[in-house]
Amino acid sequence: MTRKRVLSGIQPSGKLHLGNLVGALQNWVSLQDKYDCFFFIADYHALTTGYDNVKALPGYIKDVAIDLLAVGLDPKKCVLFKQSDVTAHCELHLLFSMITPLSWLERVPTYKSKIAELKGKDLGTYGFLGYPVLQAVDILLYKPAFVPVGEDQLPHLELTREISRRFNHFYGDIFPEPKALLTHVPTMPGLDGRKMSKSYGNTIALSDTSDDIKKKVNSMITDPARVKKEDIGHPDVCTVFSYHKIFNQAGVPAIEQECKEASRGCVACKKEFLSHLLEILEPIQKRRREIETDENKLHDILADGAKKAKSIASTTLKEAKEAMGLIS
Ligand code: TRP
Ligand code: SF4
Repeated sequence: MTRKRVLSGIQPSGKLHLGNLVGALQNWVSLQDKYDCFFFIADYHALTTGYDNVKALPGYIKDVAIDLLAVGLDPKKCVLFKQSDVTAHCELHLLFSMITPLSWLERVPTYKSKIAELKGKDLGTYGFLGYPVLQAVDILLYKPAFVPVGEDQLPHLELTREISRRFNHFYGDIFPEPKALLTHVPTMPGLDGRKMSKSYGNTIALSDTSDDIKKKVNSMITDPARVKKEDIGHPDVCTVFSYHKIFNQAGVPAIEQECKEASRGCVACKKEFLSHLLEILEPIQKRRREIETDENKLHDILADGAKKAKSIASTTLKEAKEAMGLIS
């Protein structure tokens, strides 16, 4: 029986962190055993908002590639590639741009919210408005059954299906209507309790050393009302407690009780969380060290992935060009 196909992508916007791990990457790793998986680094997408400063981009692309392998994506089980290595993405983007109504793009909720979030940056560009068209291309070129994404990406997936329907309506049945594979995860709080995000500087990166992580966790603020260990605690306002809920579910009832009756100190509580976290991160750190010593291998993995991606993408592109009257 042939496996159903799954595809997803991630933007290279810096080193990946715990939020990415729990929100997406752990899921991708488990999907590679069940599906025909394609995962890619969306470097063109990074240019839609980062076009004015590309100095860091090569490093970001490399960091993400290493992170993907370090978390356990296995090139023997899935196809890993870089978007810009597969020129079919550009060509199908041009074709889709012919049929995508501007009004569809202007009403995508991420369009206005990103502009508001990055105010001060000129996002009045053709490329930025076309972000979801490019995403539709990324997806439809590979005709996947499922696209694992977080909730924030659902509007992009809906637009992908709309573009697919519109294309098929004009030119015949070429594209599928892929479904989201929703990753239900708690939002990962950052060290300061706000959402974990590179732009807040509150992350634990997958590439942090165990020492860095210890320092970060030890300097976290817990329950501000707990000055002394004898003060009773309020776990619900404590980010360390939120982390226990994510990384140490079995321990949660006892921690909650001991915190509330002041029989547990914050230092010991952090230590317990750290041991659970490092158990997850140390194998990732070890794989990272192996990959970092072999740059050629990293290059070969992406080259091989691009070759596999191209063979599928170019077939789909040819179908689309024929359907649109460009090849007879
Ligand atoms: N927009 C996605 C994000 O920011 C990244 C992305 C680009 C993507 N192309 C994709 C995700 C195709 C899934 C499928 O997370
Ligand atoms: Fe937070 Fe643990 Fe301290 Fe309670 S004991 S306030 S849960 S760190």
